[in-house]
Amino acid sequence: MVLSATFDRELVETSIATVGNTGIETLLTLSNVSKHFSTSRHDTTALNDISFDIKKGEFIVVVGPSGCGKSTLLNLIAGLDKATSGTLTFEGKPIRGPGADRVVVFQEAALYPWLNVRSNVEFGLKMKGVPAKERKPIVDRYLELVNLQNFQKALVHELSGGMKQRVQIARALAVEPDMLLMDEPFAALDAQTRDALQLELQDIWTRTGSTIFFITHNVREAALLADRVLVMTPSPGAIKAEIPVALQRPRNPDTHAVVDYAAEIRSALQHSDYHRATADTVYAI
Ligand SMILES: Nc1ncnc2c1ncn2[C@@H]1O[C@H](COP(=O)(O)OP(=O)(O)OP(=O)(O)O)[C@@H](O)[C@H]1O
Ligand SMILES: [Mg+2]
Repeated sequence: MVLSATFDRELVETSIATVGNTGIETLLTLSNVSKHFSTSRHDTTALNDISFDIKKGEFIVVVGPSGCGKSTLLNLIAGLDKATSGTLTFEGKPIRGPGADRVVVFQEAALYPWLNVRSNVEFGLKMKGVPAKERKPIVDRYLELVNLQNFQKALVHELSGGMKQRVQIARALAVEPDMLLMDEPFAALDAQTRDALQLELQDIWTRTGSTIFFITHNVREAALLADRVLVMTPSPGAIKAEIPVALQRPRNPDTHAVVDYAAEIRSALQHSDYHRATADTVYAI
């Protein structure tokens, strides 16, 4: 069963590193990806010549101004839309559509309205073929995690926006997919739930070895969670900086080291001529 397996990230990284000269295995590659939208009203270049790799097990956070193409980028990786030019490969194969290996948590909750809260959370596990007896404790745990254990029988239309979002997060986390694509998943939540879920996500990532692609406008959240932050330019979106966050985990959002990185990410967002001033330093926190 997926959840009971503990995952030793260091061990896996060491064994992967021995596989090839390049170190850790690449999971996703984008090469010269551009995306144009044409409607009867206007043409938009949403993404302009984007190239980067994501390694297996990396936690990548994307920040950038509103409308710069973050969700468009996530949709291409999810296989929900196609690039106008360039290539995207996942485990060496071109991305041709959505797959169970890449699960999306959208900016706005997308739930099955005919299912109750519990069945929504259970849905992905059922699709994955996890037996009913094993599904029960997993669903219980994730309902508790998002604090919806008292609403498991409720239907989607009976929930607030924040509650719907918590169901969506529980559903995605419960299946522990190869890659989680999260589009501002905590933006609609109250501060207390957001803080709790940030820490839980950090813990889940450390335990499971999932690769996470996470979009946020919150620079502290980016510094807390990321291995590497990709900073995008205003529209048309391109990557203008990559900031590795060289901090040990578990991280605490209130430590100076996290706050300093948040300031660095903010500065990269604000200044068009941003250059990284410091070499990678590993802070102990
Ligand atoms: N289906 C579409 N048809 C036409 N234009 C689109 C479509 N989807 C996105 N766009 C345009 O592409 C650009 C990037 O949009 P996108 O939603 O990716 O931005 P974003 O960075 O996610 O913004 P936000 O932070 O506000 O969520 C915008 O100019 C938007 O109007
Ligand atoms: Mg968006």
